[in-house]
Amino acid sequence: MGMVLGVLGSGSGSNMQAILDAIEAGTLDARIALVLSDKPDAFILERAKRHGIETGVIDCRGFQTKFPEEAQAETAARLRDAGVELVCLAGFLRLVKSPLLDVFPQRILNIHPSLLPAFPGLESWKQALDAGASEAGCTVHFVDEGMDTGPIILQEAVPILPGDSAATLHARIQVLEHRLYPAAISQVSRGWKA
Ligand code: GRF
Repeated sequence: MGMVLGVLGSGSGSNMQAILDAIEAGTLDARIALVLSDKPDAFILERAKRHGIETGVIDCRGFQTKFPEEAQAETAARLRDAGVELVCLAGFLRLVKSPLLDVFPQRILNIHPSLLPAFPGLESWKQALDAGASEAGCTVHFVDEGMDTGPIILQEAVPILPGDSAATLHARIQVLEHRLYPAAISQVSRGWKA
């Protein structure tokens, strides 16, 4: 019996889609039980509904970037009620801390579009371009109290090519993300259930 996943996202949800595709293709033994977003109109919710997955909106009490404690506690309760065993942050733009982290210790994953520890934070592919780096990449890691820190599960590089724009580089990284995230979930899940 596969791992029960909960996904948190703020945007388009292409990584959530890649996880679903891997499940449907039989390469990832898991089930997404719940998808939550801090943005009521985020496309990730629409995608989830199309697949008949339960969705919900996280009420962040009007804060633009903060993830208030009450909202984290509500999120933890909803994830637990849905039977979620592993939480996947997929383009979720708020920092997860206590109390949500305490409820799912070593059970929250994040995907980040850089070769961490290089370029944490927002729009890391732009940071890599601006720094004149020769390669970029993608990292899946466990979430801890820091921003884009925590033990790395999988990481892979892509080249930065002459003439790359932020958009072309981000697109190349996203292709990699869509392969790496399901693989990392599978690896974590095998570690637990073997
Ligand atoms: C991805 O680039 C991910 O690495 C970053 O946010 C983006 C989310 O994209 N954390 P999507 O919503 O999964 O399409």
